[in-house]
Amino acid sequence: MKKAIIFGITGQDGSHLADLLLEKEYEVVGVSRRASTDNTQRIKHILSNENFYLMQGDITDAYSVINIFKKHSNVDEIYNLAAQSHVAVSFKQPALTWDITGKGCLNILQSIVDLGIDARFYQASSSEMFGRNYDIDRSQNKFQNEDTKFMPQSPYAIAKCAAHYMTTLFREAYGIHSSAGILFNHEGERRGETFVTRKITKWIGDWVKSGKDLNFPKLRLGNLEAFRDWGYAGDYVEAMWMMLQQDSPQDYVICTGKTHTIREFLDVAFLHVGMEDWSDLVVQDPEFYRPAEVDYLRGDCSKANKILGWTPKHSFEDLVKKMVEHDVS
Ligand code: NAP
Ligand code: GDD
Repeated sequence: MKKAIIFGITGQDGSHLADLLLEKEYEVVGVSRRASTDNTQRIKHILSNENFYLMQGDITDAYSVINIFKKHSNVDEIYNLAAQSHVAVSFKQPALTWDITGKGCLNILQSIVDLGIDARFYQASSSEMFGRNYDIDRSQNKFQNEDTKFMPQSPYAIAKCAAHYMTTLFREAYGIHSSAGILFNHEGERRGETFVTRKITKWIGDWVKSGKDLNFPKLRLGNLEAFRDWGYAGDYVEAMWMMLQQDSPQDYVICTGKTHTIREFLDVAFLHVGMEDWSDLVVQDPEFYRPAEVDYLRGDCSKANKILGWTPKHSFEDLVKKMVEHDVS
């Protein structure tokens, strides 16, 4: 039986990845940080699984990471999904974001080397690292891929770039089997409620449950013109696992290749509840604009398709429908 450690088990991706690995009959050790209230909502259904173990740990504390590896030194695969993952929050809490999202990855990699852990490592890199490198000529149908230069536009993206480079350095310097997945935005029913897609579908769900009350507090959003390449989280964790099954560690872009604005997401989401015109329900609020924006993301995952045999299973329309139906019910 293979053993995997997942840092970030209580997050959206951690919970989907745990489901996938348990289905594949792995022994899964999930690492969750201490919280004053219950943070296991997304993994409630696996807490009593006999192959699942929950350990407390924090990736900003190297001692804590070392303790986990000492207890589970026979691990086969290590997934670092832990992060302060909210881009807007990273402008308000840049140092914390650096400690978790940047240095946290180093703490894990250095512990692997120092303790001589013979395991494969996955780092959750991000399309946010491409930042303002969207001056690609859209008319020529160009996309961001593994060769696109990083031009980070947020403290979060800068921390992710540092962790990404650390992952490739440790592969080259110490021969660690470490791979980074450069994942474009992926969403779903378990998405955090402050990310734009879930904020929208959650609001729609609450509004529908209120009987479509016209006095219901309006949905307050920021920039509606940014483009995102949105996929379904359940599809994307499969790509993470596939990367670690390869003989040679490499980095891969994971995306759908299609891009939509927030405005288009609103159109499709509101149409599911019979609203063609949502303009009276949404307010654009300066509070939700960012000091710097990433205007355009659209990926090209032909490498992942060719080497891993990975393709996204859900379309944009499937994704929006899944999220709205979940939040309305
Ligand atoms: P998420 O829902 O925000 O989950 C982040 C996880 O990290 C949570 O389990 C969180 O714990 C944990 N965490 C935060 N600080 C920690 C610390 N100091 N020590 C240990 N754990 C800590 O994020 P996600 O959407 O699942 O994304 C997973 C990873 O992929 C993240 O690294 C994210 O940056 C990256 N990524 C995400 C996307 C996307 O579109 N979802 C795209 C590209 C890359 P709590 O539950 O206690 O907060
Ligand atoms: N969160 C949020 N809230 N975003 C809003 C809002 C709002 O009220 N209104 C407009 N937006 C816009 C943001 O300005 C951004 O252009 C877009 O919606 C998407 O924002 P998020 O859903 O917060 O995602 P993100 O693209 O910034 O970051 C996500 O994807 C990255 C991959 O590209 C996160 O999951 C990151 O962790 C991930 O790395």
